[in-house]
Amino acid sequence: MAGSLRGRSLVSLQEWSRDEIGLLLEVARQAKAERRAGVVRRRFEGKSLALIFEKRSTRTRSAFETAFGEEGGWVSFLSTDDIHLGVKESVEDTARVLGRMYDGIEFRGYAQETVESLARWAGVPVYNGLTDSDHPTQVLADLLTLQEAFGRLEGLSLAFVGDGRNNMAHALLTGLPKMGVSLTVVCPPELAPRPEWLESARAAALPGAEVRVVHEPGEGVRGADAVYTDVWASMGEEDQAEERRRILAPYQVNGALMAATGRARSIFLHCLPANKGQEVSAELFESEVSRVFDQAENRKHTIKALMLVTLL
Ligand code: CP
Ligand code: NVA
Repeated sequence: MAGSLRGRSLVSLQEWSRDEIGLLLEVARQAKAERRAGVVRRRFEGKSLALIFEKRSTRTRSAFETAFGEEGGWVSFLSTDDIHLGVKESVEDTARVLGRMYDGIEFRGYAQETVESLARWAGVPVYNGLTDSDHPTQVLADLLTLQEAFGRLEGLSLAFVGDGRNNMAHALLTGLPKMGVSLTVVCPPELAPRPEWLESARAAALPGAEVRVVHEPGEGVRGADAVYTDVWASMGEEDQAEERRRILAPYQVNGALMAATGRARSIFLHCLPANKGQEVSAELFESEVSRVFDQAENRKHTIKALMLVTLL
């Protein structure tokens, strides 16, 4: 199985099967245990990785840099303020140049087409570190966090509350039902997920895993093992922030909404960065049901696993 992933890109979890994601999570658990035990390995020695960023990042950049660097690899951070991509050079040409120099390329930016084009032309694995419509490496960390919290994935149920059209809603739709986790997107009608996202999520879902859209917050989270939220206005949508605050105010995740799950052991998740006081109350964020920093740490272990299974 590991061999079959060698050379693969991660543009969207849509292209990865349940078994492939399961294998990656197993490698991530090992990587995490080794890190905790202080085991130092040099599996990326002699290899190099390009990190292209059109948008800001704390977790994704740090996860790629530390995961690759601590295994002996060389990383170049290429902000699009510095390189020619999209200004003086096409994506195809940049991809072919970087593919001659690096063993792998990470891209964070606006258009999903850019990361798709990089993957088509680079000749080396390309990793989607977030676009306007997807965030697959985040969902790998979310799956590991759910596994750690509940000891399984199959049969769990998660409610994503907020902007049902954003990259996180879409990424969760591509990654969770396929692993047996039921997903309810809890959002106002005007921010409902695109119908084609729901169709493909349902088509890929493991039997028993449901995909639903519910507009009433209390009803939407009922029975959820995990309640997940994200910022109301994503990077690039700053001009819509005020309108989103108005539309999404009834969707704040707080103690009362967690109680509406009716489950004693439900956990709270957030990809971060968070706007406390908006999509989540400060109290819930800091409470013991909040697993947001486990999720953040798991970005590193799952991203290391992604590179281990695709580069070695
Ligand atoms: N969750 C996430 O992608 O965080 P960053 O924007 O800090 O990378
Ligand atoms: N939806 C958020 C996710 C940040 C990790 C954004 O795109 O800004």
